[in-house]
Amino acid sequence: MATLLFVSSVIVACSDDEPNNQDGDTDIEEAVPGTNHKILIAYFSEPLPDGVDAVTSASRVIVDGDLYGSVQYVATVIGEVTGGDIVRIQTAQPYPGNFDDLADQANNERQNDIHPAIATEIDNFDNYDVVFVGYPIWWYQMPMAMYSFFDKFDCNEKTLIPFSTHGGSGWSGTLEDIKGLVPNATMVNGYSISRNNTATSRNGILNWLQEIGMTE
Ligand SMILES: Cc1cc2nc3c(=O)[nH]c(=O)nc-3n(C[C@H](O)[C@H](O)[C@H](O)COP(=O)(O)O)c2cc1C
Repeated sequence: MATLLFVSSVIVACSDDEPNNQDGDTDIEEAVPGTNHKILIAYFSEPLPDGVDAVTSASRVIVDGDLYGSVQYVATVIGEVTGGDIVRIQTAQPYPGNFDDLADQANNERQNDIHPAIATEIDNFDNYDVVFVGYPIWWYQMPMAMYSFFDKFDCNEKTLIPFSTHGGSGWSGTLEDIKGLVPNATMVNGYSISRNNTATSRNGILNWLQEIGMTE
């Protein structure tokens, strides 16, 4: 069942979703070959203050008293299970803290293909062979900071495992976008979940990691 919500200038396509809804792409591998990987978990997350826009931006997750952005929470669980190194992708200029300004800026970046400078540095990036990449859906695609990430860190020849949270749009074509940006990466089945279900997603994340062979 799909409905359209018009909220704070963002149209969010809502549908019932599954914790592990993999958009079909025949090029995507079922499992990570081999063991003994050097794993990086790179994620972008912009949790907004409470009460800004309760419908569209309520992406903060509280689990066991700790507060996370929804992508950040998924990244944290992946890190716990895989033992990978976690790095947060941050722009050199912080994004506005209120939803309307953030939505306008994100939309402007998207429409003008602006790749904002990112401040994130990653030590010995070349040494990682498996890279989890996490992002929210913004305006039906990856935030433009993710394009900056792929500009700055060459993920070709690596195994890439995407994960994402959203307000109803699912992957929204982002797997194909990543494939286009990093054609020589090996893409593994990713994990996409609605922000509404993220707080209770731990078991779903564990099952997915087991399915793709990434549990220790
Ligand atoms: C600027 C902006 C645009 C968004 N656009 C969409 C969208 O097009 N489709 C969708 O499903 N969710 C959209 N969302 C909702 C986010 O994808 C969702 O809240 C996500 O869980 C945020 O994760 P985070 O808190 O880790 O940043 C948008 C949120 C923001 C702030």
